[in-house]
Formats: sequence, C-alpha cells, structure tokens
Amino acid sequence: MPLRVGIVYGTRPEAIKLAPLVLALDAASGVEPVVITTGQHRDMLDEINGLFGLRPRHNLGIMRPGQRLTTMASRIIHELRKPLLDERVDVVVVQGDTTTAFAAAYTAACERIPVAHVEAGLRTEDRFEPFPEEINRRLITPLAALHFAATAGAAANLLAEGVPSDDVYVTGNTVIDALHLVLAHPGRAAYHPSVPFAEGHPTLLLTMHRRESWGAPMARVAAAVAELCRARPALRCVIPLHPNPDVRRVFHRHLSSFAQVLLCEPLRYAEFIHLMHRATLVLTDSGGVQEEAPTLGTPVLVLRDRTERPEGVAAGCARLVGTDPALIVKEVGRLLDDPRAYEAMRRPGITCYGNGDAAARCLAALRERWPCSPDEPAGLRMSR
Ligand code: UD1
Ligand code: UDP
Repeated sequence: MPLRVGIVYGTRPEAIKLAPLVLALDAASGVEPVVITTGQHRDMLDEINGLFGLRPRHNLGIMRPGQRLTTMASRIIHELRKPLLDERVDVVVVQGDTTTAFAAAYTAACERIPVAHVEAGLRTEDRFEPFPEEINRRLITPLAALHFAATAGAAANLLAEGVPSDDVYVTGNTVIDALHLVLAHPGRAAYHPSVPFAEGHPTLLLTMHRRESWGAPMARVAAAVAELCRARPALRCVIPLHPNPDVRRVFHRHLSSFAQVLLCEPLRYAEFIHLMHRATLVLTDSGGVQEEAPTLGTPVLVLRDRTERPEGVAAGCARLVGTDPALIVKEVGRLLDDPRAYEAMRRPGITCYGNGDAAARCLAALRERWPCSPDEPAGLRMSR
C-alpha cells in the first residue's frame, strides 16, 4: 500500500509552494498524493492549479467575501474531517501560516493523523505581526510531527522552542523549486504579458495585502508612491491588486489619477515572475515575494516593521522600510539615484532561501519517517 499523503492548501502562496511537492510525490513510487483544497482563495487558486496541473480531489469551497477568521477556521475544521477520513490519508502536509494551514493541522491532529509542516519555524516574535500568521504558525508547531524548515535560522527557532531535532529537517523553501519550474519550462507557463513594460523607465513593482497593513498603513504607502510619481515623471509603478476590496479601495483612492501607475488584477504567476525579474525595485509586504525577488536579483523594500525572513536582509538584498512615507520616498530615491547603492543590493542567484531541491528533501524526509513496504498498509506503521 502506498503512503497516502494528504496535501491541504487554500491560498495562492500555499498552492505555489506545495505544487513542487505534489509533482515530486506524483513522480515517486510508494507514495500517493491526495490533494485537497479548502478553497480559501478562489480566483487566485484556479490559476495556480491550472499552471502546475494540480487536480484537487476535494474542494471545500469555503471562500466568502469579508469572512471572519473564526468563521473561516471553523468551517474548514468542520468540512475537512470527512475527506481526510474518506481518503484514509496517512499523513497530512500543510504549508506556512494561513488559516487553512492551522485549521487543517488541527483537524488532522484531532483525528490522530500525523502532520508535516512545510516552511516551519518562521518567527517575528510579535504575535500581531504578521497577523494572524505569527499566531497560526506558532499553533501549528505543537500539532506537527515533522517540521520542514526552509533555512537554518528557522530550524534554530524550532529547536529553541524545544522541538526535538530528529523532527526538524532543513529543506530550503519550496518556493524556489516553483520558481525554477516556471523559469525552466516556459512551455508550462506560456508567458503572455498583460502589463506593458515601459522599457528604459525605472519601474517599481508593488504588492500589499497583509491584514495589519489594512487602512492607515496602506494609505501611507500609497501616499509615498504618489509623492514619488509627482517628483519623478519617468517613474512607472505596477500594482497588482489583491482581490480583497479593502485593499483595492485604498490604492484606487490614492493612485487611480496617476498615468504612471498601473493598478491591475493579480498577475498570473509566470507573468509576475517575469515582472519581478525586470522591475527596478520590488516593494512588498508579501512573504513569498521577499523570497523570490532577491533570488531573481531584484532588490526588495519590505513594507513592514519586522520580517520573519531575515536572511534576505542579512544578505543585503532586502531592506525593512515599514510604512513611513518619508522613509519609503527616501529609500526608493536613494536606490534610483545611486547606482552603487543599487548594485550593492542586487544578488542574482543568491541561495539564502534554497536552491530548488526543497521538494525532494521533503519527500525524502517523509519516506524516512514513514518507510513503506509493498505488503504492509502504511497506516499501521505510524509512529506519531
Ligand atoms: C490569505 C492569508 C495570508 C496569505 C494570503 C496570500 C489568512 C488569514 N490569510 O490572506 O496569510 O498571505 O492569503 O494571498 O489565511 N478574495 C477574492 N478572491 C480570491 C481570494 C480572496 O475575492 O481568490 C477576497 C475575498 O473578498 C476575501 C478577501 O479577499 O474575503 C480576503 O481573503 P482571505 O483568504 O480571508 O485573506 P487574504 O488577505 O487573502
Ligand atoms: N504572485 C502572483 N501574482 C501576483 C502577485 C503575487 O503570482 O500578482 C505570487 C508571488 O510570486 C508569490 C505569491 O504570489 O509566489 C505570494 O502571494 P501573496 O503575496 O499573496 O502571499 P504571501 O506570500 O504573503 O503569503
């Protein structure tokens, strides 16, 4: 009997970061991926499922506009138990720190199904930044039997909290595998740019969606972009807007009158990667983008006060600027005007977040923990 690995995800970044593992499991013998999506995201998830050929066997379809975190979590816990039991999964894999990841880990643990946590050990040490992600990832840790830390620093965080070292694997981040998959197989993701890229113009690529940034912090960032555009007519800014209406309203209010600013729908992953690669600077509060842009050699200004991804900052290719408009204007100006400062932040090919073999390492760890022989049902050998 193959080891039945339930892969549960609900949002765009979880799908991107779990796709390489699903593909690795699909290609391996003795293991069988059972893909389940909570449907926490809808539009943004469909695109990623299509790109990587992911075919969830179950879609819980829980997305509702403006839904409370508690409603979302309780609906996932209520709806996920049945497919996990019907599919007789031996282990459940969750990724990151979303409501889907926490609720799926909790549901599995309640059914005594072991949990493997991809991208474990990220910490800011502030429960409310990012919110609710720092809370979710801290809650997943005691629920998980295996912890796949992307970096040595993340592993050290887990060990410092008392997680046994035998349960922690440093794998690299699967987002780098996904990036390589798209870059290496352009046929998989035929690149049809929908955003006209202004050749020869300095270009900022900006994304912002975190809950703690909603309202005033987001308005301050939008005001900084407006100030930069007024001062620099050659500047271009592309802002793919998260579908959340609270995010859209702020950026539209401050920036829709600027011809230099393109406010657009979320971009297809392949297009977004190309744009990150070609942009002069990336400004973001996103987790995944903080990992991808430095790897592509594009400097990142992080629109947050703290980051759980200190590796990019330590390597000099990311800088925390928060949401103070004066600081954002100053930092962007400095990097646009000073080629030496700009070049110092460009580190194309840097591997501080992994080198593209994270999914293979996760797969090897799953096999090591739960070895499978052809004549014995995998579930009988669960140690945790
Ligand atoms: C979620 C995760 C966050 C992750 C982010 C990635 C939680 C609590 N938050 O935040 O950790 O960084 O995804 O993008 O798990 N919407 C759509 N269509 C979609 C997706 C969202 O219309 O495909 C709108 C809906 O109005 C929805 C709102 O966006 O209510 C917010 O979505 P939600 O999943 O609650 O949180 P995110 O801000 O996307
Ligand atoms: N992304 C994308 N299109 C966009 C914006 C982002 O495909 O218009 C990708 C990006 O490359 C990264 C992921 O979405 O892999 C990040 O998602 P998000 O910022 O929503 O979530 P986070 O990483 O902060 O959890």
